[in-house]
Amino acid sequence: MIFDSHAHYDDKQFGEDRDELLSSMEQNRITKIVNVGSSIESSKRAIALAERYDFVYAAIGVHPSDISCLNEERMAWLRKTAKREKVVAIGEIGLDYYWDKEPEIQEQQKVWFRRQLELAREVQLPVIIHSRDAAADTLEIMKERALGIPGVIHCFSYSKELALEYVKLGYYIGVGGVVTFKNARKLKEAVAEIPIERILIETDCPYLAPEPNRGKRNSSLNLPYVVDAIAEMKGMAPETVEEITYRNAMELYGLG
Ligand code: NI
Repeated sequence: MIFDSHAHYDDKQFGEDRDELLSSMEQNRITKIVNVGSSIESSKRAIALAERYDFVYAAIGVHPSDISCLNEERMAWLRKTAKREKVVAIGEIGLDYYWDKEPEIQEQQKVWFRRQLELAREVQLPVIIHSRDAAADTLEIMKERALGIPGVIHCFSYSKELALEYVKLGYYIGVGGVVTFKNARKLKEAVAEIPIERILIETDCPYLAPEPNRGKRNSSLNLPYVVDAIAEMKGMAPETVEEITYRNAMELYGLG
C-alpha cells in the first residue's frame, strides 16, 4: 500500500477525469492521499475532496506565492477550518524566492510563514513546508518558530547536509518524481543519506511526474516508480519502502 503524502487533485488539470481517477486509486494500492491546499480557494476544494472520498485527507494553508490574499479574516477562517475532522495538516506554507526576488515580497512571505507556523502550533497540526531557493531563511524560521511542531519538508531540493539537519530537528523529508530524474544528483545523495524512517513518498501531482512519464500530467498511479528508485538506492525491497513510508505518513498526519 502506498500513501501519497502530497497531491493537488483539486487542480484544473484533473477537471476532466478527477472522479474516475480517484475512484481507481484503491484498486491500484494507493490507499491514502493528502490533498494539499495552496490558497484559500484550493484549501476549500481540498476539504470538499476529503469529504467526498474516505481515503482522501486535506491540508489547508497558503503557499508563499499566494500570500497576497492573506489577511486577518482569512487567518481566522484557517483557524476555524483547521478543526474540521479531515483536516490533517497546515500547508503548504513556506518561502519561495525562485518566483519572488523582491526583498519586500520576501519579507511579506516571512511574515505569513511565521503566522501560519504559529497557527499550526495553536491548532496542534503538523506542517507541510514548501521551500525553494530559500534554504537559509527557511531553516532560520523553522528553528525560531517551528521547534516541536511535526512536519515534512516537501519536494526536498537542498543538500544532503541540510536534509540531515532537518532530520535531526525531527522533520520528515518529502521525496517525489524528481528522485527518478537522471540529473537529480543532489536529491539522490540526500535520499541515500537519510534514514528511510524519515522519508515520505509524494507526487505533488499534477506536477513532477517521475521517469518514464516525466513531463506528462502526474498522478499517484506513478508512485511505484518513486518507490522503486528509493528501494534501489537504499538496497531495500520496494515492499519494505512502501511499508515504512506508509507508516511514516500515518504517524505524521495523526492517522495511526
Ligand atoms: Ni505542492
